[in-house]
Amino acid sequence: MPNGLLKGKRGIIFGALDNKSIAWKVAERCVEEGAVIVLTNAPAAMRFGEINELAKVLNCQVIPADATSTEDLENLLTQSVEILGGKLDFILHSIGMSVNVRKKKEYSDLNYEWMKTTLDVSAISFHKLMQSAMKLDAMNDWGSILALSYIAAQRVFPDYSEMADAKALLESFARSFGYHWAKKARVRVNTISQSPTVTTAGSGVKGFTDFFGYAEKMSPLGNASALACADYCVAMFSDLTRMVTMQNLFHDGGFSSMGMAPELLEE
Ligand SMILES: NC(=O)c1ccc[n+]([C@@H]2O[C@H](COP(=O)([O-])OP(=O)(O)OC[C@H]3O[C@@H](n4cnc5c(N)ncnc54)[C@H](O)[C@@H]3O)[C@@H](O)[C@H]2O)c1
Repeated sequence: MPNGLLKGKRGIIFGALDNKSIAWKVAERCVEEGAVIVLTNAPAAMRFGEINELAKVLNCQVIPADATSTEDLENLLTQSVEILGGKLDFILHSIGMSVNVRKKKEYSDLNYEWMKTTLDVSAISFHKLMQSAMKLDAMNDWGSILALSYIAAQRVFPDYSEMADAKALLESFARSFGYHWAKKARVRVNTISQSPTVTTAGSGVKGFTDFFGYAEKMSPLGNASALACADYCVAMFSDLTRMVTMQNLFHDGGFSSMGMAPELLEE
């Protein structure tokens, strides 16, 4: 139910590919809560994604940007401030891609050129985004920047492969840059560590369907849905969470605190 939590706020949402994408739900919920937004995704995603349909429904503009290109990011940020009529209050980084996982390379036999691309797309892009926004002075005071992460940054999930290392770096960037953003403009920076979710990126991980069922049983509240994640993002973009920064916030139905779930032994 809309509560006007983001009334008057302006933001950029990265990563809405199709209606399963977590970013898709976040975009819908932000607009529902009164925000005006710009949608963005990699130029390639424009061709096979459905982002333009979402833009039509939400009455917002789409600006293509490869998140690994500082030139694209600077163009996106400058244009967004112009289109939205002022500096930004929030940004969602919802980007992940592993070349080695896509090409089915095992963790003990990684291709390091591909790994560089994985780290660039999935983690360094977050630093590039924050650095570009700071140089362009594109964020309003007390703004909120979020990226989406996964618990493989702390614990071993073998099939998640090099994405675990990308997420560890992503979370570290949130802490390290969070300090500088807080000092500059009281902007907060956090990562949300989300449950396994059925999306294009999620389903690309080997054994995803079985693992999704395991996590569902291991989490006392069950897996958190994309829509529930969108609600959490709205809360983190709202003025109700202004003192939360440099955190990795688990949004996982309790999974991260569990050791053993009796439900899993009953099978
Ligand atoms: N699905 C899950 O199980 C799950 C769990 C925890 C965290 N996450 C994270 O949530 C985020 C969103 O993923 P999703 O599950 O919604 O899947 P998704 O496939 O819908 O979204 C991934 C997005 O990244 C974009 N992208 C890839 N390369 C890019 C580039 N160079 N520049 C700009 N955008 C680029 C894709 O176009 C796509 O829109 C990712 O960071 C993912 O790791 C997902």
